[in-house]
Amino acid sequence: MNIGIDKISFFTPHLYLDMAELAEARDVDPNKYLIGIGQSKMAVIPPTQDVVSMAANAADKILTPEDKEQIDMILFATESGIDNSKSGAVYLQRLLGFKHQVRVVELKQACYAATAAIHFAHGHIAMNPDSKVLVIGADNARYGLATKGEPTQGGGAVAMLISRNPRILAVQDDATYWAADVMDFWRPLGFDEALVDGKYSTNVYLEFFKHVFKEYQANTGFDVSKFDAMLFHLPYTKEGFKALKIAIEDADPTVAARLTHEFENVRRYSNQIGNLYTGSLYLGLLSLLENSTDLKAGMRLGLYSYGSGAQGEFYSGLLRPGFDQNIEHEAFQKVLDARKQLNVAEYEDVYNSRIKISDKTRKLDISTDPAKFVFAGVEDYQRQYVVK
Ligand code: HMG
Repeated sequence: MNIGIDKISFFTPHLYLDMAELAEARDVDPNKYLIGIGQSKMAVIPPTQDVVSMAANAADKILTPEDKEQIDMILFATESGIDNSKSGAVYLQRLLGFKHQVRVVELKQACYAATAAIHFAHGHIAMNPDSKVLVIGADNARYGLATKGEPTQGGGAVAMLISRNPRILAVQDDATYWAADVMDFWRPLGFDEALVDGKYSTNVYLEFFKHVFKEYQANTGFDVSKFDAMLFHLPYTKEGFKALKIAIEDADPTVAARLTHEFENVRRYSNQIGNLYTGSLYLGLLSLLENSTDLKAGMRLGLYSYGSGAQGEFYSGLLRPGFDQNIEHEAFQKVLDARKQLNVAEYEDVYNSRIKISDKTRKLDISTDPAKFVFAGVEDYQRQYVVK
């Protein structure tokens, strides 16, 4: 039975910061961010968006009433959770109007958890072929102002409907994975911003890729020429490019050129958004589908998922017949082009204005946020969401 991604959509808020302007404000050569890091713009998350509202905005775009009837599980992958007990998934049950006969749970392993969710959904559907599972990867990637991590922020939510006979990508049962307890990136309880051993984290990401890709090749007998495109978790686009260079270092030049060409399509949206944590790998999938003109049904995509702390995984998926009928060329580029640009002072104001853990009751001004689902503040520590 083919099981995999039947529908995919993405949401990121309406605000962005130009990376050259941020570089100037931080007294850094703009080419460090534009070329060295590989980011041209960065999503800015207003206080009126959190992982729940972003997830609702993403999922709302793709789900029909029939899908909602068939979905019996919502797996909410995030490392920017908004509660220590209650899952982000259960808020969606009400906001999106799911039936009550649904399992709701939140998953965490840094940026990796959405990949775990896809495989858990795969197992569930293998046993219950008429089920559908909603997988969410939603995060607000946040480091301190004027820290080295600052240019690698971003945020948004990916929503994926997992089913049998999927229309986009059939997930293959070929994953290789590698875990080790390392301190490359973490966010202690109560902290709003991640702590990171930056250089070390970039090396662990690449080392884990080497482990899982080597084992994948040994298990399957496939070399890199078997792939028509390779996708990577993109904490910033240069890091994925470094992993690609490792994958193609001994490849035939035609294969290397093809994969390098497709990687430009994979990273196009991330370059304008920044890190998404859990959703990043799958934003790369959407970006490839909407921007490549060379993809055909049956082609094999390689996917490298990485979550600090750390877990790495490599697996593949096959493009399904008719996948392109469900994809609109450059559709999300239009959404990105319509965003509002902030200057650095405005970005810093937005950064500092989010609801704090100590806020018991605080109402947010939702009038300037054009999204359908917004976070309106807290009342007696209870989060309030509004559907516009
Ligand atoms: P840094 O120390 O500011 O940067 O930190 P750098 O000095 O290493 O420079 C970055 C690159 O820019 C270098 O290229 C420079 O040569 C180049 P590289 O050696 O890497 O090829 N450069 C220039 N290029 C052109 N023109 C110039 C110029 N100047 C310098 N003028 C770092 C960079 C990414 C470490 C920092 O931003 C950071 O700590 N970010 C957060 C951590 C991170 O993103 N880690 C990625 C791997 S871990 C991961 O992916 C997991 C994660 O998503 C979290 C999760 O799993 O939940 C983060």
